[in-house]
Amino acid sequence: MKFDILTIFPEFFESPFSLGLFNKAREKGIVQLDAHDIRDYAEDKHRTVDDAPYGGGGGMLMKPGPLGRAIENVKEKSSNSIVILTTPAGEIFTDQTARELSEFDQLIIICGRYEGIDERVREIYVDREISIGDFVLSGGEHAAAVIVDSVSRFLPGFLGNVTSSECDSFKDSILEYPQYTRPEEYMGKKIPEVLLSGNHKDIDEWRRRESVKRTY
Ligand code: ADE
Repeated sequence: MKFDILTIFPEFFESPFSLGLFNKAREKGIVQLDAHDIRDYAEDKHRTVDDAPYGGGGGMLMKPGPLGRAIENVKEKSSNSIVILTTPAGEIFTDQTARELSEFDQLIIICGRYEGIDERVREIYVDREISIGDFVLSGGEHAAAVIVDSVSRFLPGFLGNVTSSECDSFKDSILEYPQYTRPEEYMGKKIPEVLLSGNHKDIDEWRRRESVKRTY
C-alpha cells in the first residue's frame, strides 16, 4: 500500500510513522508513506496555495492549481488508487471504511486547510470525503494520520503475529473483553478468578460473556 499525503505541513507525518508497527511494516515493504508539500506545486515565488473566495466572505480557500498539480503528479496511473479529502463535512470514518480502503494499492489523502478547497478540484479529483468525527480540527493532518494508521492494520502482514485485526474491537460490532496482566492484585482490586483457573473453556466462555456485556 502506498500512502501519498498532500499537505502544507509534510513534517507533521515524520515522527508518528517512524515508530512501532508502522515503521516495521515500512522496512518490510508492506507500506510506503510520502508526505508531499502542496507548496512545491505553487507557481509564484511566495509559494502561495490559498486565496480569497469569489463572492466574498471570511477565510481563505486552497487554490485549485497547486492542489490539482500535486494530485496529478502523485497519482500512479497503473495502480488501483483513490483520492480522499479529509473534511468535517465528509462521511464518518469507521472500521468498515478502513477495511474498504485497505483494498486499494494507493491512497492519496488531501489534508484540507483554511476554509476548504476549490469546488472544481473536489468535483474533478476527489473520490471520497472523510470526517473522523463531528468536531472541527485546524486541518486534515490529524484525520489523515488516523486513516493511515487504521487502514494499515488491515494490510496482510502488517500486524505480524502480534495480534490480528480480526480479533480487535469492532469486528462484527462486538467489543473486546477486559484484559489483565501482572500483578494479580492492584490497588486492592483482584483479577477475575477464572483467569487463574487454567480452564480454557471457562476462560473463553467468560470472555465471550464480558464482550457481550461491554457491547450491550
Ligand atoms: N478537518 C477538520 N476537521 C476535520 C474532521 N473532523 N475530520 C476530518 N477532517 C477534518
